[in-house]
Amino acid sequence: MKATYYGHGCFSINIGDSIILIDPFISPNELAKTVEVDAIKADYILLTHGHEDHVYDTESIAKRTGAEVIANFELINWFQKKGVENGFAMNIGGIKRTPDFAIKMVSAVHSSSMPDGSYGGLAAGFVLVYQEDDVDKVIYFAGDTALHKDMELIQEEFGFVDFAFLPIGDVFTMGIDDAVEAAYLVNADSVIPMHYDTFDPIKVDMEEAKEEFQEFRLEVFNIGEEKELI
Ligand code: NI
Ligand code: MN
Repeated sequence: MKATYYGHGCFSINIGDSIILIDPFISPNELAKTVEVDAIKADYILLTHGHEDHVYDTESIAKRTGAEVIANFELINWFQKKGVENGFAMNIGGIKRTPDFAIKMVSAVHSSSMPDGSYGGLAAGFVLVYQEDDVDKVIYFAGDTALHKDMELIQEEFGFVDFAFLPIGDVFTMGIDDAVEAAYLVNADSVIPMHYDTFDPIKVDMEEAKEEFQEFRLEVFNIGEEKELI
């Protein structure tokens, strides 16, 4: 699996022939100025919730690429009114299957309103399941969330998580300590930190994070960096 970090909570993940872009907030991000938003490819755009720092570039990328936007019912409706026609609405607990992977929408503890203040449904996370060389692989993309016990259900259902994308910036989401606990709850192998440093209140000490996550493989991305994760 290949992943590229576009800053804040935005990643692109390649599974098989599919490019999955998650939570595109790039053009307003001062730290992501080097990223060429108009060059980003996507077959699917997954949105965890309606906050601007997760959906900002969705409309332009979806219209340019024709990517299928996958999110909760309220977000899909909102984007439909903006002319984004290729949407797939789901809700927490639901599964969508594609030829390359399955997505389960799972709970997050966070709020969700649209950039114009309208109702954005519930915030969510995603579990992506796919096969690589006939081996099951599991990704947990937490989105914005506090630590919560439902994360244990992910371990119960899937047994393990190969790659856990967890917010560590604190203030609006889990901080480092809670994210470490989350990694235990889902039985993570690799942890990919996100949602930090973008704004002053969520600046983190990455050296501290590396120490706290020493029981896990911590994969820290530079913005714009692509890595092969195994
Ligand atoms: Ni948020
Ligand atoms: Mn956020």
